[in-house]
Amino acid sequence: MIILGIESSCDETAASVVKDGREVLSNVVASQIAIHSPYGGVVPELASRKHVEVILTVMEEALKKANCTLEDIDAIGVTCGPGLIGSLLVGLSSAKAICYATNKPIIPVNHLEGHIMAAFLEEPMEAPYICLVVSGGHTALYQVEPGQRPIYIGGTLDDAAGEAFDKVAKLLGLGYPGGVVIDRLSQLGNPKAFDFPRAWLGKDSLDFSFSGIKTAVCNFVRKFGNPTEGGNLPYRVEDLVASFQEAVVDVLVAKTLKALSVKKLNHVAVVGGVAANSRLRKRFGEMALENNFRLRIPPPSLCTDNAVMIASAAYEVWKREGFSTDLFSIDAISRWY
Ligand code: KG4
Ligand code: ZN
Repeated sequence: MIILGIESSCDETAASVVKDGREVLSNVVASQIAIHSPYGGVVPELASRKHVEVILTVMEEALKKANCTLEDIDAIGVTCGPGLIGSLLVGLSSAKAICYATNKPIIPVNHLEGHIMAAFLEEPMEAPYICLVVSGGHTALYQVEPGQRPIYIGGTLDDAAGEAFDKVAKLLGLGYPGGVVIDRLSQLGNPKAFDFPRAWLGKDSLDFSFSGIKTAVCNFVRKFGNPTEGGNLPYRVEDLVASFQEAVVDVLVAKTLKALSVKKLNHVAVVGGVAANSRLRKRFGEMALENNFRLRIPPPSLCTDNAVMIASAAYEVWKREGFSTDLFSIDAISRWY
């Protein structure tokens, strides 16, 4: 089963050809970082326009790299949500048009389920397991049972973890996307230098909150000075971001551990853009060893948005639900499980 995957839910236009859910024949990602960088975040209208400009080229390149033509493709898997509605519509409309013209089946894919499948491309892991999805738009815990849709068991009440990384980086004038810069700078800093608040939200809560820590960093620079203002600072920026990152990672690791214990499971997957974070990967690795859990984290290049994960998830959706019968009833969904 050869699937062409298409992803355009946020600021990456991506297409990929994957055989039988795991054999990657091509992986093309056109990033819009340069376009959104001056604004310190994704500007939805600019994102949609850029998707329109590049989507056909990206698909053609994915087919070419896979040594395929449209005729070799058995189905198209496309992200239908969650995401920015204008961005989603570009990928979805393109997929629908191709399917209509070529009479190929379409498989609507949930973006978060795509992120989850990225964890198993190198080495599968049988369900049930707990999955932490941690990206720029989402921070949530899911329980995954064999052959079922992921079940939401907790998530952020305000900002996503990646959003907190991006906003703190913007505040400190470090560039966009913030997670990557903070990850790099933190490697030169002391994570224990400053004690930022961890939002536990009660002993048994599986929910998250990252707006408080963002405010704490804001208050810190108001008091001790912001690197954007120049001049000598009474602290090292590396220590500040390492301490911020440590607080975020502490909460992500502890809540995942809590979910494993509440649901009595010992398999865990950590996925999404923030799963590329080197400190998070290290801490989860240590946690898995200490507690004897089986752990899967995608390689960093498949943590951030791509279409390999969409083609792979499309294969799972097809096994579970078959092809979507009515092309015209499929729509983009900005909020989905
Ligand atoms: O999964 P993704 O590409 O898009 C969404 O679905 O949101 O995630 C993007 C997010 C951004 O917030 C970015 O700052 C964050 O992932 N990110 C990182 C790292 N690489 C990307 N955060 C922390 N450390 C990283 N190395
Ligand atoms: Zn994503």
